[in-house]
Amino acid sequence: MHEGTSTEVLIASVSDLHTDFAENRDDVVKLALAIHERRADLVIIAGDVSHKNERIQRVLQAFAETVPRVAYLPGNHDLWFDVPDAKSQPQLDTWVRYRQELRALSESAGAHYLPAAPLYLGSTAVVGSCGWYDYSLMPASLRASVDPSVLESKQYGGLQWSDARFIAFRDRAGALMSDEGVARVMEEELRAQLAEADQRPEVQQIVAVTHHQPFYEVVTRTGTLPWEYFNAFMGSVGLGEVIRSSDKVRWAIYGHTHQVGRYQLGPITAYGTPLGYPRERRGLDAEALLKSRIGWIEL
Ligand SMILES: [Fe+2]
Repeated sequence: MHEGTSTEVLIASVSDLHTDFAENRDDVVKLALAIHERRADLVIIAGDVSHKNERIQRVLQAFAETVPRVAYLPGNHDLWFDVPDAKSQPQLDTWVRYRQELRALSESAGAHYLPAAPLYLGSTAVVGSCGWYDYSLMPASLRASVDPSVLESKQYGGLQWSDARFIAFRDRAGALMSDEGVARVMEEELRAQLAEADQRPEVQQIVAVTHHQPFYEVVTRTGTLPWEYFNAFMGSVGLGEVIRSSDKVRWAIYGHTHQVGRYQLGPITAYGTPLGYPRERRGLDAEALLKSRIGWIEL
């Protein structure tokens, strides 16, 4: 029981900490202290800490020292290989980074690695997958007008989505996988975790965590280019279908977008509280930072 309240379990969440920026490293300390002060039982880190292992490790350790339990889910940035063109190097496979390297790093820092297994906290289960994108979150009319090869190259008007250079998901034969193929694997990973958590009689509510966005409704729409083109890389509708397939899911936490958002989608509260890049929160004072960049679940 938390002091002065009837809360039994308190869960905090953060995402898109992007600690390659010094300013963000300072703000992560503020977030960790605030979460510590409210005596959260668990903090969920929903991806995009850094592509550098030592930075990810430092952040996980800092939270592990201030909060009893830490659940880490990598984002696409965390999965990046620090090379000019990962696809041209056959020994680099993002699945190895996702399933082995980051898992080992997370566990050595004292954090629960969410893609490996659900985390159970009394009657609550937390399930998670990085998720991926299959272009289903861009407006259908725009998608119909763009050649699939252009989407696969992730380029538009001289701009390129950086995953094109630093990500290389391969199949068992070593061939590069399509984005849609990766999205399906991530969705199945989440489906398996949900099925496991769902059938446990003690689990009464489930928190689903994805780095990529799981619902069309939570995507920021500007109606302008190139924004709507790049919404292709925000996530997949299939992730949301998996989340909605269990009626125990009451929260869906996502990262990836740097737009703070909160949506009630039937029984599910979906939200993102990204820290984002320093330029995106210029003028935000410390109080507003703590209010908008930490998500809370009180049980
Ligand atoms: Fe991301």
